[in-house]
Amino acid sequence: MPDFPIDWVRDSFPALHTGDNFVFFDNGAGAQVPRTVLDAVQHHLLTRNVQRGGRYGRSQEVDATIQRARESVAIFLNAREPSEIAFGMNATSFIRIVSLALADTLRDRKGIVVCEMDHEANVATWLALQRHGVQIRWWRMRRDGSLDLADLQPLLSSKTRLVACTMASNALGSIVDVKAVACLAHAAGAEVFLDAVHYAPHGSIDVQELDCDYLVCSGYKIFAPHMGFLWGKRPALEALPTFREDFIPDQIPTKIEVGTFVYENVAGMDAAITYLEDLGNRVSPNGNADSRRARLLSAMDAIRNYEALLSTELLRALSKLKGITLYGIQEPRFASRRVPTVCFNLEGVAPSAVASSLASKGIGVRDGNMYSPRLLERLGIPPESGVVRASLVHYNTLDEIDRFVQELRKIAHE
Ligand SMILES: Cc1ncc(COP(=O)(O)O)c(C=O)c1O
Repeated sequence: MPDFPIDWVRDSFPALHTGDNFVFFDNGAGAQVPRTVLDAVQHHLLTRNVQRGGRYGRSQEVDATIQRARESVAIFLNAREPSEIAFGMNATSFIRIVSLALADTLRDRKGIVVCEMDHEANVATWLALQRHGVQIRWWRMRRDGSLDLADLQPLLSSKTRLVACTMASNALGSIVDVKAVACLAHAAGAEVFLDAVHYAPHGSIDVQELDCDYLVCSGYKIFAPHMGFLWGKRPALEALPTFREDFIPDQIPTKIEVGTFVYENVAGMDAAITYLEDLGNRVSPNGNADSRRARLLSAMDAIRNYEALLSTELLRALSKLKGITLYGIQEPRFASRRVPTVCFNLEGVAPSAVASSLASKGIGVRDGNMYSPRLLERLGIPPESGVVRASLVHYNTLDEIDRFVQELRKIAHE
């Protein structure tokens, strides 16, 4: 297996070469885009910023671009067919669309299980259904920051309609065994809604293998512009009542998309997947001989391995800092159970002060509650002040970690 081509990766991202050596450690809030993504967006806007469905060439090119993007995202997720992919603004609005649609089809299954570990987008939206008679069951997080399947089982019954769950925590970086979640939920006759937003830049997704029912993702976390997409099993999507107007065809995916979305960003999403395939070419011994799916799997495997190195080094270096409290999985032997997203606090220094000091040194991290206030409360952290989060992706380096930790050492007055 060739080494991880970090130089090629970094060369692909213009934002990493603006001359100020800025360290992007806030990727959980949004990642940078490769030049090819920018080119695709620009090409769309410069040559064919027109509506779909016309009889002229440029309009037909827009149709073809969207179709190709659906095929690319379908391959990325291993969906059964491109029409299971709907494009839209972001993950949150898709969760809202699906939740409101489900509210109309609850009948005698009114139970929805939500997780304390999730981003509020995948919690508050389901809680809002209580006014439709939904009964919420909480899958509580353990104090060590894990979700235990033994705690899920007793929450499920013949009354459970859905389990809403994240694939990876955007605060702690821990990966959830969502295949096992789907297995338990289906045994009770319930559906599973997965939030893949934080997990998607870090590892491969196979919706058929996971056997989930819905999955939502944001393009801007996976090296594309701001947009979101929803995948659902065809029968599940077909059964959903939606809010489409009469002029929108009553078929998937249009009935879910409810009108026009940002075509140039969808063109960028397609290019982001091509970028990952290019990475797959470089790291796979078979290169171009592989199928598109195989190239993507090679890319995501290489990313997982490289990021395990980053996680291990980040945790090792941080754990040596005076007065640090690290949250979530820390043992190097469990590196495969997490992505390189690490939350911490420094004794005596407010998270906002840590983030501001780092910002003044050209290092971007995030402070606050990470939109996961319930997770913070469970860990005994006041959500108002919160934590500092460093969230890395595959274009980050060991040198950047070194710079980051050196700055933290100064902030901690070591
Ligand atoms: C895990 C997770 N879920 C959902 C969201 C919301 O995504 P969007 O901004 O696309 O609505 C985020 C955003 O940061 C997230 O990290």
